[in-house]
Amino acid sequence: MLLLDPYEVRRDFPIFARKVHGKQLIYFDNAATSQRPVQVIEAVDSFYRSLNANIGRSVHELALAATEAYEAARKVVAAFIGAKPDELVFTKNTTESINLAAYSLLASGLVRSGNEILVTRMEHHSNLLPWVRVARLAGAKLKVVEVTDDGRLDLDDFRRKLTDKVRVLAVTHVSNVTGVVNPVKELCEEARSRGALCLVDGAQSVPHMRVDVSRIKPDFLAFSGHKMLGPMGIGGLYIKRELAEKLEPPFPGGGAISLVECGVEECRAEWLQAPHKFEAGTPNVAGAVGLSAAVEYLERIGMESIEAHERRLTEKALGILQELGVTVYGPLDVKDRVGVVSFNVGKLTPHEVAQLLDSEGIAVRSGHHCALPLVKRLGTPLGTVRASFYLYNTLEELDVFEEALRKILVIAS
Ligand code: ALA
Repeated sequence: MLLLDPYEVRRDFPIFARKVHGKQLIYFDNAATSQRPVQVIEAVDSFYRSLNANIGRSVHELALAATEAYEAARKVVAAFIGAKPDELVFTKNTTESINLAAYSLLASGLVRSGNEILVTRMEHHSNLLPWVRVARLAGAKLKVVEVTDDGRLDLDDFRRKLTDKVRVLAVTHVSNVTGVVNPVKELCEEARSRGALCLVDGAQSVPHMRVDVSRIKPDFLAFSGHKMLGPMGIGGLYIKRELAEKLEPPFPGGGAISLVECGVEECRAEWLQAPHKFEAGTPNVAGAVGLSAAVEYLERIGMESIEAHERRLTEKALGILQELGVTVYGPLDVKDRVGVVSFNVGKLTPHEVAQLLDSEGIAVRSGHHCALPLVKRLGTPLGTVRASFYLYNTLEELDVFEEALRKILVIAS
C-alpha cells in the first residue's frame, strides 16, 4: 500500500487556494460534503462543452455519445462497489436512493400490513424517515435497535428485535455522528437468515473505505457522489439483480418503459429492465460523468491508502481532544471507526464553538447532524461539534485545530 501524500493531493483541489477570514481554509466538514478535484470539475465542464445531449432517446451522434458516456460512468461506479453495471441505479443522492428502495418495496407489495421494519437509533434522518412513511403506508411496524453508551450498536438488542416478522433491516454502515463502523456483513447475514432484506446506508463508508457488495451481500446499498469528490446531485443505489427484477418502479415516467398502451379508459406500461426502469426522466448525465471521474481519482490513490491516512488523522484528533479534556462522543480509539469525531467544549453550544473555529479558518459542522435520535441518546440534545476528515487533510492542520481549541477553552472557562 502506497502512503498517501496529502500535500500532493491538495494541488488538485482549487478550493484550497482560497482564504477564509484571512486564514488558510482548513476543511473538516467532509461528512457533510467533500471538495472536488480539477479532474472532476473538468469532466463535468467537458461534458457540457462537447457532449451535451439527452440520453437513451434520440439517434443523432451527440445523443449516442452522451448515452455512451453515461453508461460508461455506470460501469466505473458499479465496479467501484463490486457490483455489475445493471445493478446500479443512478439517483440524486443517498436520501433519494433510500426513498427509492423503500417505495419500491411498498409498490411491489414486499412490505405489507403485519410486517416489521428494523432500523437503528444510529440512523441519520435519511435512513429513518422514508421507513417511517413506508411503514405507515403499508400498515407495518417500525422497530428501533438501541445503541450503547459509547455509540456502538447494541447487538443483543438487534438480535432480540430481529424476529421472523422483520421484512427489512435498514442500517448505516458508518455513523455520521460518531464515526462508528457497523459490522454490516454480519448484520445482513443475520437478517437474511430470518428472511429479511437488508439495506446498507453507505453515505459515510463508500467515500472512505473499500465497500464491496459481493462481500457484504446487502440487497440495497445507498450512497452519495458529493461526499466522495463527485458533483452534487448524483448518487447511487445498488439493488441486487434478482431483487431488482421483481421490483415495481415506484416513480414511473418516460425513459423507463418499453411499451405504453392506452385504451379508452385505461393505460398500461411495460418497464425496461433494471436499472433503467428506476431512472424515469432525464437523469443527471454530467453528474454521472463527474462521479466516474471522482471514482477514477479515488482508485488511482487507493481506498486502502485513503483509509490508512484518515486513521492517522483520527488517532491524532482523538488524542488532542482527550488531552484538552473536551467531551468526546463515540469510541475513543480507532478500532471500527472512521474519521468523524464529535465533541463539545464546556458550556459553549456546538454552534458557538463552530463559529469560533470558523473565525480561525476551520470549517466543521455543528448541531444535530440530521441524526436527532442519536444525539439525544448520547445526552447532548443540542448536538455536537463534528470534525470529519478526508484524503487532503494533514496532520499539520490538526496542530492549527489544537491551537484554536486552546483559545476556545479559555473563552469557555
Ligand atoms: N448527512 C450529512 C451530514 O452528516 C449531510 O452532514
